[in-house]
Amino acid sequence: MKYITFENGDKLPMLGLGTWKSAPGEVYQAVLWALEAGYRHIDCAAVYKNEKEVGDALTKAFKDGLVKREDVFVTSKLWNNAHERDQVQVGFNQTLADLQLEYLDLYLIHWPVALRSHVMFPEKGADFLDHAAAPLSETWAGMEALKKEGKVRHIGVSNFNQSKLEEILASCEIKPEMNQIELHPYLPQQKLVSFCRSHQINVTAYSPLGSADRPSARKKANDPVLMQEQVFQEIADKHGKTVAQILIAWSLHRDVAVIPKSVNKDRIIQNLESADIRLDGSDMEAMSNLKTKHRYIDGTFFTEVPGSPYAQSDLWEKA
Ligand code: A2P
Repeated sequence: MKYITFENGDKLPMLGLGTWKSAPGEVYQAVLWALEAGYRHIDCAAVYKNEKEVGDALTKAFKDGLVKREDVFVTSKLWNNAHERDQVQVGFNQTLADLQLEYLDLYLIHWPVALRSHVMFPEKGADFLDHAAAPLSETWAGMEALKKEGKVRHIGVSNFNQSKLEEILASCEIKPEMNQIELHPYLPQQKLVSFCRSHQINVTAYSPLGSADRPSARKKANDPVLMQEQVFQEIADKHGKTVAQILIAWSLHRDVAVIPKSVNKDRIIQNLESADIRLDGSDMEAMSNLKTKHRYIDGTFFTEVPGSPYAQSDLWEKA
């Protein structure tokens, strides 16, 4: 297993279990299977609506001696409706209570988009807080306070483009240590990854398998299916591995952490075994230079809401 080492020496196992789309009835068992298989990194978020069950699984694993708290790296994310300075602590406390933990290893601002505190998903302009009402610098100050209080060991962001990162870097006391973004061969985001690296911001890949199980509201009729790309099958056959394993290995070879989601025991085990795959230069080149380019999680569910104060340029730089 490869690790990211933070400035203070903490280590993040680069392959973790994703829990977005894992139903409350399935995620408990999935987390236990993952810990039994050897995963030591679990990625969570308040908006996944399953943190209580993840917490139940962690509690059981600690109680049974399967793993010690200090040996598991747990990440969660602040939802968009808790961006106001005094709400950051509220959102964090709920996550900590649901996960049944004393501290988090990593806490991320989920999106650079703010909603009113009673809104989970926006339907109209009035559901949002605009940049002036909820400046990112204020949200980040709340994150810094959590770190200073020792409630989180590391803080970072998710779905931040270069200009949003620059906004934080310009006013922060503590630099973001992670940017979690959609990354796979249809969306390599080399420029953003390089920018993060140049500022010692680590990178985690979400949707590394193309999130085929994303909700129908996140699907468009002609979205390409990542896992069906012929090139991956050829490389998988060459190595005697599966396409999913090759995709996970591709992120690891870029020194990017990766969090494939599965609630299936065999796949959970199979995905972890990707850590041992050695892709060669020609594999990496073939996978990184595909004609098809696609972003699955495009943020239009925030930017195309009538009256939204957020534009696509708040989320993604033009390719
Ligand atoms: P399941 O949970 O039933 O295993 P992503 O991580 O990009 O969001 O992708 C998650 C999707 O990929 C889920 O539908 C998940 O299904 C599926 N998946 C996870 N691991 C594998 C695998 N090894 N082979 C095929 N599909 C997988």
